[in-house]
Amino acid sequence: MSPRLRHLTTLENLPRATIERLLDRAEALRDACAHGTRKLDVLTGRTVLNLFFEPSTRTRTSFELAARRLGADVINFDIGFSSTSKGEELLDTLHTLEAMHLDAIIVRHKHSGTPEELVHHAMSGVSVINAGDGNRAHPTQGLLDALTIRQHRPDFENLTVVISGDIRHSRVARSDIHALTTLGVKEIRLCGPASLMPEPDEFPHVLHIDDFDQAIGGADAVIMLRLQKERMASTDLPDEAAYFSRYGLDQRRLALAAKGCLVMHPGPINRGIEIASDVADGAQSRILEQVGNGVFVRMAVLNEVLAR
Ligand code: NCD
Repeated sequence: MSPRLRHLTTLENLPRATIERLLDRAEALRDACAHGTRKLDVLTGRTVLNLFFEPSTRTRTSFELAARRLGADVINFDIGFSSTSKGEELLDTLHTLEAMHLDAIIVRHKHSGTPEELVHHAMSGVSVINAGDGNRAHPTQGLLDALTIRQHRPDFENLTVVISGDIRHSRVARSDIHALTTLGVKEIRLCGPASLMPEPDEFPHVLHIDDFDQAIGGADAVIMLRLQKERMASTDLPDEAAYFSRYGLDQRRLALAAKGCLVMHPGPINRGIEIASDVADGAQSRILEQVGNGVFVRMAVLNEVLAR
């Protein structure tokens, strides 16, 4: 058996058995919930801190819900009203909060590597979970995307998955690539403007295809990404109408994919920029399923790092 995780900062180099254990546990929790179990008490008496230095709707709420459903107490640290706005340094914030006896810190930060910095400086006994750092990793999103695909298409070795849009600035794309590669997906294709693609040597095993019609041809799942303007130089900003016509997912393009192709997006979606409204809301859209799976994946991760 692969060893139990103390922290979760990235999916890179995580053994396949660990990823599968987390997905299996998330699935079991989803089944239990479907049969009426709303609350478990495996984390009663434990305290979880949501430490978000960047905005978030889905991730923060679902971590909070996940922790509460497992019986933990949750503190939401609101950066706008905190001493961070008075210039307190990250590690001083960490030690101040730790003095209140936390068991886990869920952190989102604009700087890549912040979760590892916290792991390095945190008191022993405190677990760190990455909820997104810079453009580097968003491990629970990678897991929930893998779970959503697995639910419909467990035959990863036959699958072609396209990730399209602003991949260069996307921590989601990186964690998706790590998860899907480890789980044995047959082919991963990246599509987007050259200025928004990763360096070719970052993922030598994935295909880079500039033409979206070609990239989506025969695909079993397509993961669309938002233009993450907050991480872009203004010179990299494409014209939005031109962008939609070249890289937007509309019904015509979706028809080029394999029958039943799963349409996915981590959110927030920008309708009419990377995805047409009727596709986002259409029969093949799995976007809200992803959100639902996010709660179960985060329950599984909290259970993994915190259960005694
Ligand atoms: C993503 C993120 O924050 O990285 N959102 C999310 O967590 N669901 C993607 C994004 O912001 O575009």
